[in-house]
Amino acid sequence: GDQTGPAKTGGEQWGSRIGVILAVAGSAVGLGNFLRFPGQAASNGGGAFLLPYFISLLVLGIPLCWAEWTMGRFGGLKGFNSAPGIFSAVCRSLKARYLAVPALLIPLVIYMYYVVIEAWCLAYAFKYLTGDLMLGDNPDAYGKFFGDFVGSGEDGAILGGTSSLIVFVGITFVINFVLIYRGVSKGIETFCRIAIPMMVVCSLLVLARVLTLPAEKVSEGLGFMWNPDFSKLADAKTWLAASGQIFFSLSVGFGVIINYASYLKKKDDVVLSGLTACGMNEFFEVCLGGLITLPAAFIFLGAAAGDQGTFGLGFTALPNVFAQMPGGQFFGFLWFFMLFLAAITSSLSMLQPVIAFFEEGFGMARPASVSLLGIITLAGSMFVIWFSAGLKALDTMDFWVGTVLIFILAMVQSVIYGWIFGVKRGVEESSHGASFKIPMVVHYMLKFVVPLYLGVIFVLFLYQAL
Ligand code: PHE
Repeated sequence: GDQTGPAKTGGEQWGSRIGVILAVAGSAVGLGNFLRFPGQAASNGGGAFLLPYFISLLVLGIPLCWAEWTMGRFGGLKGFNSAPGIFSAVCRSLKARYLAVPALLIPLVIYMYYVVIEAWCLAYAFKYLTGDLMLGDNPDAYGKFFGDFVGSGEDGAILGGTSSLIVFVGITFVINFVLIYRGVSKGIETFCRIAIPMMVVCSLLVLARVLTLPAEKVSEGLGFMWNPDFSKLADAKTWLAASGQIFFSLSVGFGVIINYASYLKKKDDVVLSGLTACGMNEFFEVCLGGLITLPAAFIFLGAAAGDQGTFGLGFTALPNVFAQMPGGQFFGFLWFFMLFLAAITSSLSMLQPVIAFFEEGFGMARPASVSLLGIITLAGSMFVIWFSAGLKALDTMDFWVGTVLIFILAMVQSVIYGWIFGVKRGVEESSHGASFKIPMVVHYMLKFVVPLYLGVIFVLFLYQAL
């Protein structure tokens, strides 16, 4: 056997096949699909963004996703659930666990700001229910409401503007940590099985409503967002943004899937499950995020929509859409409630890898690991709320952690899979229980093309930035 440290403590497993797929899809489908994707597309060439985006999906996203599913289940069967444990099992070397540091750091840091936006969604859903957000046909009013609420208004980022925000952040934290405390199958899986069907229903209702708005308005909005600017394709930043978006959206390159996959059984199908989760994510991203959210927003704000920050736009622009449609209060509620559900199923997947690490690495029991993580993340989120001067800090963090660090981890993972785990073991491990095999070319892509592709974009980007 492998000499790779202590045996696993948790021994948790997913309850059912559909449950795992929904949990992974739940991790993937989130604010990234509805807010980040349209924002990235709009500021990186509009329709032209789709070219590097789909190339990144095929070259990076799906191959790395399969690699994570395969290595995750492999590590899980050896008794490891945390990325450091899994890396050491895969590499047959204890030292390899240090390579997994980003796989803990990334989800942890992203959670700290992600959960704040999650709380905005809950607050907006609530404020639609109570009617507070029906401010009429007045774009400035929504901008002001948002600024006051998140504390980026006149007085800057201070507690004054954010007291009600703190309440919603508190509720959001409690929901997340109760579910995490209940565990992988009873907490995460059960919640995803309920939340995802609800999300589908809510978002289809909103879609139907938006598409039945006056036709010329809808096409004007789509034009704003999708008008291709091909000159952006010469900019390495566009390619970096496209692959960053693929990673963020699929939850690939975070150490998240590798952790979720470690709770699989040997006979579970990693190939089809991985592909299904990716497919669901793309449906939500391109069809729902790209065709409705932002196009609708651009109808009302036009080019000014670009200045709202990656995540802010959905909160300042979309309320205008709801203000002008019959039944807007109801649809506004549905929309933000749907976003909230989508966000929880994602934020849970950022917490679980760290919990697994506390339990496995430090031998902590569930109450201790959950409390410790709660304290760390709450401190981090308070920092985000109080000390971030407006929304710029969010975007800066999102860039460094959500794009650059993920790049590095993705590179590490492809090298581990292609060169240390090796194509032969990769083929063998991924085929167990699979209804079809990963195409051979994908294994070689992971070995040669993925690291090269990531490296080239990264170097070009640095070169252009300096
Ligand atoms: N994929 C999620 C989204 O699109 C975000 C996420 C990032 C989830 C990292 C888990 C880990 O919103």
